[in-house]
Amino acid sequence: MGTGFAADASEKEKEFLNVAHRGASGHAPEHTITSYKMGEKMHGDYIEVDLQMTKDGQLIAMHDETLDRTTNGTGQVKDHTLEEIKKLDAGSWFNEKYPEKANPAYKGLKVPALEEVFQQFGKNANYYIETKSPEVYPGMEEALIELVNKYGIDKDTLLVQSFSPASLTKMNQIDPTVKLVQLMWYTSPAAISDAELMSIKEYAIGIGPNSSMIDQEYVQKTVQNGLEIHPYTVNEKEEMKKLIQWGVTGMFTNFPDRLHKVQKGR
Ligand code: G3P
Ligand code: CA
Repeated sequence: MGTGFAADASEKEKEFLNVAHRGASGHAPEHTITSYKMGEKMHGDYIEVDLQMTKDGQLIAMHDETLDRTTNGTGQVKDHTLEEIKKLDAGSWFNEKYPEKANPAYKGLKVPALEEVFQQFGKNANYYIETKSPEVYPGMEEALIELVNKYGIDKDTLLVQSFSPASLTKMNQIDPTVKLVQLMWYTSPAAISDAELMSIKEYAIGIGPNSSMIDQEYVQKTVQNGLEIHPYTVNEKEEMKKLIQWGVTGMFTNFPDRLHKVQKGR
């Protein structure tokens, strides 16, 4: 048996979330099964999945509303069927953009449907899923819950995040057992009020602000109000260390291997 302090510290370490942002997207093309697998191997606790919805109502893992940046296709996701999107190459752009990290195996990687992600990683994996642009995709929350239920995804290890309070409150109405995180985007140094925290606490278990605009007071106020705080997107060791010192309860990173080393004091 350890001391009370040790038990608390180890409990704290267990709870701290290393979120592989778009998978290990600093090493491999974002939102591919390869990137997600790498995230797991590199000690990411959660696979982060951004959702878009196709013309035929299928949820896919993609950050942008358009196909242009991360595939060899063009145009809006909502104007293409899943079958059309599955024909695209979602890996070659990475080799071209990051020649020092290029790998011939990335060429021809496919855009995964959320369904495939669930099939690949199973019901007990930790998923941190974002409803992106929910105003563009009516019904995406229902579609998400339908797949979560179809694949028996463990709701203890599922987190759903969004910048849209409307999307999260809708999720909460559809299934109050799903844990939610409110994302925040600040363009200048930010403070958060008690009233704001109380209002978020009505439906969410935590918040996810952009890391560069928050300070220690912001972090501590959030934690003291009983909310988790997972800043994004933290890729440099010094920033990881600073945020951990401030008391964040996890963070999103493109380099889960780097964050793991920091967690281990290396
Ligand atoms: O979901 C946390 C973070 O990923 C939000 O920003 O644009 O990378 O989805 P974005
Ligand atoms: Ca995201």
